[in-house]
Amino acid sequence: MAAGDGLITTADLREYRALRREPVRGTYREFEVLSMPPPSSGGTVLALMLNVLEELDLARNGRDSTATIHLVAEAMRLGFAERARWLGDPDFNPDMPLSRLLSKEHAARLRATIQPDRASASSLAAVAGEAESRQTTHLSVVDAARNAVALTYTLEESYGSGLMAPGTGFLLNNEMGDFNPAPGLTTTNGWIGTAPNLAAPRKRMLSSMTPTILVKDHQPFLVLGSPGGRTIINTVLLTILNVVEHGLDLEAALAAPRFHHQWFPDRILYERGAFSTETLAALRALGHRLEEYPYPQGGRGGDPRGSRDRPAGGAV
Ligand code: DON
Repeated sequence: MAAGDGLITTADLREYRALRREPVRGTYREFEVLSMPPPSSGGTVLALMLNVLEELDLARNGRDSTATIHLVAEAMRLGFAERARWLGDPDFNPDMPLSRLLSKEHAARLRATIQPDRASASSLAAVAGEAESRQTTHLSVVDAARNAVALTYTLEESYGSGLMAPGTGFLLNNEMGDFNPAPGLTTTNGWIGTAPNLAAPRKRMLSSMTPTILVKDHQPFLVLGSPGGRTIINTVLLTILNVVEHGLDLEAALAAPRFHHQWFPDRILYERGAFSTETLAALRALGHRLEEYPYPQGGRGGDPRGSRDRPAGGAV
């Protein structure tokens, strides 16, 4: 290790112990399943997938049928999403909910999300919030007295300009790109060159930050905001509509797939799963251009690109 410039020392090796652990225990039909516990995900994910599948009559359609392969693939998708969300070394994850992950009730909830005639979309929503995206960030806070703060904080790029004034402890931003870059440079691919936001001495650049508090009967009702450049405004809009117009609870409102139109480029960007095939066709028939996002809107799932929507190298 030393010869290869490795990181592991003799002291590390001296401290290492092989540990004896209790196996994962599950049941599958008339069988008891004993397998490897964390820090392997194997036994837990296997038992979970068997739990999901045991109530589905796989044998009826046969091993090679589309129906069987679909159901098994969906169980795999569900099992691996839970693996990513929860599983790791138990010594570092004391709250790992193993017994819940292995329960028949949990499997039943997961099974209920499987549609017999349609593949689900693997969604990063389940792990949203676990990894912060490397960009603009938002905090919503309410205290016991119902005082509320919505705070969006932007340096523009990750780490702003990459510079810290010595001794200050904070990074300098890189917000000049939020000015319109040049007079008259308004294009169909999303550049804006209109006068109100052209750079000028002592002028502050136009932001899309939307820290928002909805108040009802003098009480904070929703406290929200988002990263994502110009998409910020639409993410906040959709979340409000999901709650107020469509009656979703906050978790469902935040998890729901999003979409975005920003005048130019003249098209609707949508997250996978936002629209059914029929809705896509109907929107196209109305004359909308539609494009599926290659990444989530609103910085969820820790996607480093967030959902900044700007021409390459251009201004937000
Ligand atoms: O203030 C603004 O609108 C931009 N500086 C926000 C940039 C942003 O959200 C970058 N990350 N997605």
